[in-house]
Amino acid sequence: MRTPLIAANWKMHKTIPEAEALASELLPLVADVEDREVVLCPPFPALAAVAAACRGSRVAVGAQDLHWEAQGAYTGAVSAPMLLAAGCRYVIVGHSERRRYFGEDDATVNKKLAAAFQAGLKPILCLGETLAQRELGLTEALCEIQLRQALAGVEAGRIENLVVAYEPVWAIGTGRTPVPEEAQAVVAFLRRALAGMYGPEPAGRVRLLYGGSVTPENIGGFMAQPDIDGALVGGASLKAETFAAIVKCRIQ
Ligand code: PGA
Repeated sequence: MRTPLIAANWKMHKTIPEAEALASELLPLVADVEDREVVLCPPFPALAAVAAACRGSRVAVGAQDLHWEAQGAYTGAVSAPMLLAAGCRYVIVGHSERRRYFGEDDATVNKKLAAAFQAGLKPILCLGETLAQRELGLTEALCEIQLRQALAGVEAGRIENLVVAYEPVWAIGTGRTPVPEEAQAVVAFLRRALAGMYGPEPAGRVRLLYGGSVTPENIGGFMAQPDIDGALVGGASLKAETFAAIVKCRIQ
């Protein structure tokens, strides 16, 4: 019922020519993938070039962030209509690196999510607990707070365009991951929370991803979980072969 989605978060990597090269190396490797959606999220300057490279393929392009206003005096910021015009269909919102290094909180995440929906972009909402929070047993509580605050004021009609990525902060870029069953438990909890907010039917259509140190070796275990509909991949998305192996993984 839910098409699995594998999204590449290139973070602050790749100049325009490097991004074009990576996209053109990747596209033939995933050209025969029909049952999974693939999204590439390069840095802002490379968006239009990667979107042009992906035109005519099944691979979509997403941005890594956006501003909540459509335009205005916000030096350095990029708006949802700009992303759309650059060829984006998706946008990552609330990544833990944005929260940690750029002072984003659940209130700004909420505004950004609303702006993405308003423009017709599909947001990939990131949330997850830190190691300290996990050790205190706060994982579910924290994730629910982030989910509910991000979605405050968002109507049920929007929800089928929502993607949520559960990314434990301690798993990002560290090589450590929860076991797939632990990730499944949190993701299933998030789906129940969505069902409580919007009803089981809309909640059943939301794609819930796992993110944090995903590799070709461990992806199959995550994808085998009933509520995990794909992955948000950082480091392992920077090499075409590695990312293609993740996209084409067999479910274990
Ligand atoms: P990682 O990053 O795969 O390098 O851990 C994931 C992410 O931050 O989305």
